[in-house]
Amino acid sequence: MALRALWHLWLLGCCWCCGSGRGAGPGPTFARPGPRSRERQAAAFRESLNRHRYLNSLFPSENSTAVYGINQFSHLFPEEFKAIYLKSKTSRFPKYSADLLTVISKLPLPLRFDWRDKHVVTQVRNQQMCGGCWAFSVVGAVESAYAIKGKPLEDLSVQQVIDCSYNNYGCNGGSTLNALYWLNKTQVKLVRDSEYPFKAQNGLCLYFADTHSGFSIKGYSAHDFSDQEDEMAKALLTFGPLVGIVDAVSWQDYLGGIIQHHCSSGEANHAVIITGFDKTGSTPYWIVRNSWGSSWGVDGYAHVKMGDNTCGIADFVSAVFI
Ligand SMILES: *[C@@H]1O[C@H](CO)[C@@H](O)[C@H](O)[C@H]1NC(C)=O
Ligand SMILES: *[C@@H]1O[C@H](CO)[C@@H](O)[C@H](O)[C@H]1NC(C)=O
Repeated sequence: MALRALWHLWLLGCCWCCGSGRGAGPGPTFARPGPRSRERQAAAFRESLNRHRYLNSLFPSENSTAVYGINQFSHLFPEEFKAIYLKSKTSRFPKYSADLLTVISKLPLPLRFDWRDKHVVTQVRNQQMCGGCWAFSVVGAVESAYAIKGKPLEDLSVQQVIDCSYNNYGCNGGSTLNALYWLNKTQVKLVRDSEYPFKAQNGLCLYFADTHSGFSIKGYSAHDFSDQEDEMAKALLTFGPLVGIVDAVSWQDYLGGIIQHHCSSGEANHAVIITGFDKTGSTPYWIVRNSWGSSWGVDGYAHVKMGDNTCGIADFVSAVFI
């Protein structure tokens, strides 16, 4: 099968003839001139090295700032990276105001908090070449919400959301808000990941009997917390890990440290889960779980500066209620 063959080429370091992936209209999706040539790969790699040098040169005196370098995405041009991985769509979220979520406003804020320390966050997953970040982040929030309520921590099915959330585009992209709307509206029960495993491609929705056990939500919130990141931190303490949507263009090259430059707040394109924050150092930061495997970034996580809406982290924030 074409996709499988391409996947093997990818594993061999030979890469994908992407460029469209979707939206190419009728006709075979993969009818493109063979896989990328070695020359093209080498050119992308050279461009990456130059980009890393540039990114690392800008703020040499800051010891906590992010470091950029070679990782699994270095053989892709930025446009290719974007076309495959940055597939989250957004719509405007209403501005948060304290009277909306009255329960959260009076909490004192600790200097550091991470839901991972409470053992309610599942392991980092890998979306592979599926643009399903929106589904990974929403499923992650549901997993943690149940664990926080005392249920066992379990991997739930991302593939179910990819296949069944009819108002999204599966591995071709989607919106966290549409997925939350769908979960809440249909009261669908997410099954365990082992019952409906991840395939990294779109499939037909499998239905389960009403009596089948699963995990549904009772509601969700969606707010713009820009200029109110301390309130956002309180929401995280109150409700659990938060679903967020960021501009992750510069994350292609991220190795570690605190992302505080090179990350705009105007172009959200990637959904993540915010599990905690750390304000103990000179640069406070959010602790952000990604879905690009645990070898990316800091064990699969990114640290994103807190307080000035870096990467647009506070613009599109959701919590789930169970
Ligand atoms: C990092 O920089 C801050 C101030 O710029 C300084 O107080 C701190 O000791 C430095 N940390 C390290 C590990 O160099
Ligand atoms: C979720 O569904 C419940 C029950 O249908 C509804 O009352 C609530 O308004 C929904 N929440 C959102 C955020 O749409």
